[in-house]
Amino acid sequence: MSANKGRIAVIGSNMVDLVTYVTRMPVKGETVEAPSFEMGHGGKGANQAVAAAKLGASVLMVTKVGDDMFADNTIKNLAGFGVDTKYVTRATGRSSGVAPIMVEPSGENSILIVKGANNDLSPADIERAAEDLKSCDLILLQLEIPVETVYAAIDFGKRHGVKTLLNPAPAVANLDPERIRHATFLVPNETELAILSNLPVGSEAEIETAARSLTARGVETVIVTMGSRGAMLLTADAVKRIAPVRVTPVDTTGAGDAFVGSFARYYVAGAGLDAALNKAVRYAADSITRRGTQKAYATEAEFEVFCAAHAAADRVA
Ligand code: RIB
Repeated sequence: MSANKGRIAVIGSNMVDLVTYVTRMPVKGETVEAPSFEMGHGGKGANQAVAAAKLGASVLMVTKVGDDMFADNTIKNLAGFGVDTKYVTRATGRSSGVAPIMVEPSGENSILIVKGANNDLSPADIERAAEDLKSCDLILLQLEIPVETVYAAIDFGKRHGVKTLLNPAPAVANLDPERIRHATFLVPNETELAILSNLPVGSEAEIETAARSLTARGVETVIVTMGSRGAMLLTADAVKRIAPVRVTPVDTTGAGDAFVGSFARYYVAGAGLDAALNKAVRYAADSITRRGTQKAYATEAEFEVFCAAHAAADRVA
């Protein structure tokens, strides 16, 4: 399968991640010393773009940076991974997006986001990139930009026959089900699925019912990411579970983005749904064995080593 087959567009966010690794979370009014801090490039949109690019995909990103000290570095970072930054624009008088993050020893994280310039990404930015977007095979979307822009991108995809994938993260309560039902793929985690469906998601049976309620509303394909339980794929007439890969988590930040970016890369290159999802579960698992988001994502060569090691481990087990 050629890594250069297929082109992916990401219309989404970029952030600068300010990550503190804590021994425990402070309670209200308390000061706690933490052992280490790292800064990195993040943002759900940029993470997905970089994951796909590191795996060899051709990626175009439509995003907005502020006019502060982070802006140039963000553009340089994306370009450094080979992401096409022609449609990265600057919002004057705005900060770039930033995300203070705390990661606990278990690898679990708590994230605050300040959207900054991401809030200014508008449907007009999609129109400016229209000719290039029409030649893409898949458009990736998340919810760190205005929902009107997300709706416009889904409509654009439908109008021009370009597939769209909406990763409804972070979860927002005011998403209009009617405006997202034409997304080709909807990829929520369990929390986002509960909010979208208004149904419980405690067990796998409940997850299936909740996801089914979304295909019943017209979404073609729902893929639920379930962390250490793998993933679930639902279409109108089929349901499939994708088994997890066991790893020891160091930092789970950005695992969902690793999943989406790698799924997109393999899907546009011609892998079937099942094969692309198997890769995505593995790529996300590998990403949580290292600190950070984009810097934790494997290159194609590194990922092949991980897959080979895990195939061998699976055979022994
Ligand atoms: O999904 C992880 C990302 O969420 C982080 O990189 C942070 O920037 C927030 O957007």
